[in-house]
Amino acid sequence: MKKKHPIVIAIDGTSASGKSTNAKLVAKALGFIYVDTGAMYRTLAWHCLSHRIDFHDAKAVATACRKWHTKLECVDGHVRLIVDSYFPEKEIRTVEVSMAVSMIAAVPKVRDWMKATQRDCIQFGNLVMEGRDIGTNVFPDTDYKYYLDAHLEERTKRRVAEGVNENLAARDQRDSQRAAAPLMIALGAKVINNSNMTSEQTSGLLIEDIKKRLKADGR
Ligand code: DC
Repeated sequence: MKKKHPIVIAIDGTSASGKSTNAKLVAKALGFIYVDTGAMYRTLAWHCLSHRIDFHDAKAVATACRKWHTKLECVDGHVRLIVDSYFPEKEIRTVEVSMAVSMIAAVPKVRDWMKATQRDCIQFGNLVMEGRDIGTNVFPDTDYKYYLDAHLEERTKRRVAEGVNENLAARDQRDSQRAAAPLMIALGAKVINNSNMTSEQTSGLLIEDIKKRLKADGR
């Protein structure tokens, strides 16, 4: 019997639209591997900040991305990007990194590197991958595409509840207006605005829809 390709569930959307929480819940329910691609961009932003590389200088950032020493690992069903044998789990969540990250994410050479690395994650099995360009650019051929969004006010409230006060509108604008793989709704993606929904409701909707589609596809 022909071996089936691993399945990729692409979950894209705006900042603080609940991608991480819901993608993790979906991955757990389906027994798939969870990949946070934003964390990979954040890791490069942190690497640049800690090596005093000017994140406004696209050439310097591209060079850093070409030269850094990284490795992918899968621990407890989550993929990690390891840099110089270290996993900067906490360090990538600071306000400084959040401010720098969309600048480095706009560099075309960085996006090429990230796309190749994210596609490599397929080595770990079936994936739930969240980000901004998964359905449009990283795995455009997947049949399982979702786009999450919520009103700006609600998203800002969610970030404040996490103890982070950042200008989400500015970050969304940079992510949607860059030339290379901007944030947009992939063709065929199911759009979910979860402004008035709990994560149980959002993930429940996603899991139900994915299970139905997997069954229809004989997977
Ligand atoms: O999801 P997040 O807030 O951790 O993402 C951090 C930044 O990385 C976000 O501002 C845009 C960028 N990003 C991207 O350009 N493409 C992705 N697939 C994931 C994140």
